[in-house]
Amino acid sequence: MTTICIKYFVIYYSITNLINSASQVFSRGGSVNPIAIEKQYSFNLGHQFPVVAKRGQGVYLWDDQGRRYIDCIGGHGVCNVGHCNPAVVKAISDQAKKLITAPDWMYNDMRSQCYKKLMSIAPPHIKKVFLCNSGTESVEAALKFSRSSTGKIQFIAAMNAFHGRSMGSLSATYNNTYKKYFKPLVPGFHHVPYNNSEALKHEVNRLKGTIAAIILEPLQGEGGVIPGKKEYFQAVEKLCRKEGILLIIDEVQTGFGRTGKMFCFEHFGIKPDILCTAKAIAGGVPMGATFCSAKIKVPKKAHGTTFGGNPLACAAAIATIEEIQKRRLADNAANVGGYFMRELKKISSPHIIEVRGMGLMIGICVKKPVYEVLDGLTKRGVLALAAGRNVLRFLPPLMITKKEVDVIVKAVKEVLG
Ligand SMILES: Cc1ncc(COP(=O)(O)O)c(C=O)c1O
Repeated sequence: MTTICIKYFVIYYSITNLINSASQVFSRGGSVNPIAIEKQYSFNLGHQFPVVAKRGQGVYLWDDQGRRYIDCIGGHGVCNVGHCNPAVVKAISDQAKKLITAPDWMYNDMRSQCYKKLMSIAPPHIKKVFLCNSGTESVEAALKFSRSSTGKIQFIAAMNAFHGRSMGSLSATYNNTYKKYFKPLVPGFHHVPYNNSEALKHEVNRLKGTIAAIILEPLQGEGGVIPGKKEYFQAVEKLCRKEGILLIIDEVQTGFGRTGKMFCFEHFGIKPDILCTAKAIAGGVPMGATFCSAKIKVPKKAHGTTFGGNPLACAAAIATIEEIQKRRLADNAANVGGYFMRELKKISSPHIIEVRGMGLMIGICVKKPVYEVLDGLTKRGVLALAAGRNVLRFLPPLMITKKEVDVIVKAVKEVLG
């Protein structure tokens, strides 16, 4: 009797489970439910917004229920030229009909044009570019090239820095949340306080003669939207020149007009030996590029990638950079970003500690739990990101208008007021 009861219970339990998961999967208006499927099969590693992104145009994103959002996540700082920018869409579609893949074992017309375009926006001391597929790869190349060019192995990075999640770039990253499960990391990485040239000098003296490079973000993104100081970066450059250390500037998040100039380091008047870029470079198509000065030496076959510099991404990058230039998007980032920051600073709220940033990379340091604030904004049709535990981050497409900024500021007032 007991065996029969257990059998029936097991059958009943299995059927109920099946019905439950089927109804989860099919419960969104009778169609397949992407939220249930993604929850079931992905590792759910990030904070998932209850939004099914369906369609994008310019600064707007629509979900599967037809709701419209002003998108200040922008693909995580990728959509500088807006969602589905028509020029980028055309470039991708035209190229897709001709050739999608071509490894660098052979030459390619679109890639060669892309090299020329990238060189046209780089400062004159930059002589070579390594093309890859993401930010972490761009940083990984910078670290490897620094070792191959100097024969030295140590690196200095900043506290709160974020440089990526592969083993080298992760070793340069500061926050232990990203690192603790993956140790031992690459040896030779040392972290010093950001914007503090005395602390840096002290560390350089301690490691004298063994440092390949200093790697810094010109405005720390993931670490809490912390702008770098001009005097600090100038002092870092001077120290690098004096000690024969390479200077790597990581512009994966700040590049391509985001802070009001094509690259953020231009605000400081410095010359990085290596410049890491990715995210916005190709209007949403995965791509990275590591710009290098003549000091950088990489032996033949010492590095490479299958997809880096594929014609599809190269076509997208050319169209993206042309859009940034033609529409003067960096100037718009400076003007509208300045307005955005001034309007946010006018909000009187006990929950706001500080508003900071550059151009259209803006952070609000808050006293409330940041995900609660983000959920409140989502309900009001504004998507934004977190940067650490207590900073709200806005990375909108660069063609955003003051009128759209007013809508965002109103939503922030309602949530934090
Ligand atoms: C400054 C910086 N470097 C590197 C990365 C890593 O880029 P990816 O996620 O494309 O690997 C990021 C990503 O947010 C970043 O902000």
